[in-house]
Amino acid sequence: MKATIDHDASSSTSAAPVREAGAAPGLLSGEALERRLEALMHQDRFAPPTRIVTAESVNEASLHARAEHDPDAFWAEQARTLDWDVPFTTVLDDSNPPFYKWFVDGKLNVSYNCLDRHVEAGRGDRVAFHWAGEEGERLAITYADLHRDVQRLANALKDADIGKGDVVGIYLPMIPEVVVAMLACARIGAPHNVVFGGFAPEAVKERMEVSNAKALITVDGARRKGKTAPVKAAVDEVMGDLESLETIVVVRHAGIDVPMTAGRDVFFDEIVANADPICAPEPMEAEHPLFILYSSGSTAKPKGIVHTTGGYLTGVSSTHRHVFDLDPERDVYFCSADVGWVTGHSYIVYGPLCNGATSVMYEGAPDYPHKGIWWELIERYGVSIFYTAPTAIRACMKWGAEHPNAHDLSSLRVLGSVGEPINPKAWLWYHVVVGRERCPIVDTWWQTETGQIMISPLPGLTETKPGSATFPLPGVVADVVDETTGESIEQGQGLLVLKRPWPGMLRTLYGDDERYVETYFSRFGNDTYLVGDAAIRDKEGYLWIVGRIDDVINVSGHRLSTAEVESAIVAHEKVAEAAVVAQSDELTGQAIVAFVTLQGELEGTPEIEGQIRDHVAAQIGKLARPKRILWSDDLPKTRSGKIMRRLLRDIAEGRALGDVTTLRDPTVMAALEQKIVTAQADER
Ligand code: WT7
Repeated sequence: MKATIDHDASSSTSAAPVREAGAAPGLLSGEALERRLEALMHQDRFAPPTRIVTAESVNEASLHARAEHDPDAFWAEQARTLDWDVPFTTVLDDSNPPFYKWFVDGKLNVSYNCLDRHVEAGRGDRVAFHWAGEEGERLAITYADLHRDVQRLANALKDADIGKGDVVGIYLPMIPEVVVAMLACARIGAPHNVVFGGFAPEAVKERMEVSNAKALITVDGARRKGKTAPVKAAVDEVMGDLESLETIVVVRHAGIDVPMTAGRDVFFDEIVANADPICAPEPMEAEHPLFILYSSGSTAKPKGIVHTTGGYLTGVSSTHRHVFDLDPERDVYFCSADVGWVTGHSYIVYGPLCNGATSVMYEGAPDYPHKGIWWELIERYGVSIFYTAPTAIRACMKWGAEHPNAHDLSSLRVLGSVGEPINPKAWLWYHVVVGRERCPIVDTWWQTETGQIMISPLPGLTETKPGSATFPLPGVVADVVDETTGESIEQGQGLLVLKRPWPGMLRTLYGDDERYVETYFSRFGNDTYLVGDAAIRDKEGYLWIVGRIDDVINVSGHRLSTAEVESAIVAHEKVAEAAVVAQSDELTGQAIVAFVTLQGELEGTPEIEGQIRDHVAAQIGKLARPKRILWSDDLPKTRSGKIMRRLLRDIAEGRALGDVTTLRDPTVMAALEQKIVTAQADER
């Protein structure tokens, strides 16, 4: 893609500029840091720092009060910050619960709101993304650049007979083209279906198949830590025969040769260069689907979560402004997630662009080319808002404070966390080492389904407690309820539910309304959304998310279903049966442990273990590979033949076994405990 090169592009990023410990005055490391963290462990609350200059929006302490008084009016007010081609007159249509509609008679175009209106207002020269490539490449991509490329790609897609309602798959790494691709789809009303680059082509195929994708936008190869993996060739191998797929667009990024099928495959740069430069944004109905994003649930079949246009854009832009106290004129925002997850959709692409923000986008891993790369980027671009995940913070803790300490992080003013509960130690480290005890931390709870942040502190307002996501945002009604009666629990643990529709909520599961109702609304009725997390409400009303109540494992903030991993393992020819459970893990939060029974008389060996792990990587992706495989001749089952995962979890965690009286064959557990060979798998 064409873009302006940063002025200082000549200096290299490859050497790790690690200063001697203690070189920068006032920065803690080693024992002094440990002592400071230990002291803060006893501090149970942190006042919102007054030094943080807040944007006007958040300064208004009345935000909560206004929303509570009239949530519809609050959301309507947020929606009116967007540009509508046809203004809405209805805010929430709840005539057919749980199929809620927002702003239903309004029309707007998402790409117009993310690009054209900024360009038209004379802000075309503003940088949308400072893109940093793995090998030190730098691009400054302005709103005008995106505006130009999105229109051309949108026209090229139209030329390829892709129009409103046609699903377009996107399987790309963290490169500027992924943003262009998403916005080009939005411009013409083609719902995109982005698949995280870390998923295997097999998983991409499944997602393309079930969503009937008409086109796929992918890349020649993906770079990761100095290596290049062929992507297009791998896509061809598994997807060559997918009938619905009429077009494959290939971004030339890694510079490797790729097989191209005439009549189906085209190069991104060529079709963009040949396309008409003007593509008028088509007004879309507010409820027109913007994208589908597959996420793991309780069964082996991933759920196609459907988000629509007006409500989603309202939800993500408004929360991005409020939760991060965004001032688009001054702030530089950096979200370290991948665009392939909902965090990337909502808080790298749609929220920030709709708000006219300047962001940093990094192609690589947090430890490549060195373990200080994030801090180097923060210093280089003067990042003021940083949003990452607890698992990443724990990895940084392990690498040591000398990496952040070696950089000037004084531009930072708000820090965010998302993906899993953040443990107090990681929270404090983030606060002390990264935030230098000046920056509020917003621990943001939400889900692929919610589309937008739901529970979070507001940085200039909320007193925080390390490990608590604090309170629902304005316009959001959350509750902790008894799991059987559904009654509100004033203090203590129960199920987290959402009691009022919100604009960014999922509208259904793609092609499966029934599963939508069944998964989220069958427990407590059509007006109570079942989150799937347990939570505690403390005596001051703070919410503490405990974790999933279903068979979903959260590895490094990524959702995986036990059933999906089991089915991948069982598909291996040597495997007879498998059961997958979560085990707590210091780095990744949870790790996957698989209990595997092999066929016939086969004995478990490190070689078979390796084959099974490779097999899972090929079926789902590397992130789904079990950390440990435990060979077992038999698995504990109830009399009706259901595997008792609870007992397997006890074994995996090394706990005393719970109640075994319902087992069909109680001797299985004894045998299992004896037979366990704990083969510690290599790093993910
Ligand atoms: C699940 C949703 C939202 C983007 C990333 C994950 C857990 C998420 C937090 C948090 C405690 C959290 C929950 C939730 N989760 N954020 N701040 N504190 N838990 O999206 O893959 O849809 O997963 O992640 O268990 O249900 P997702």
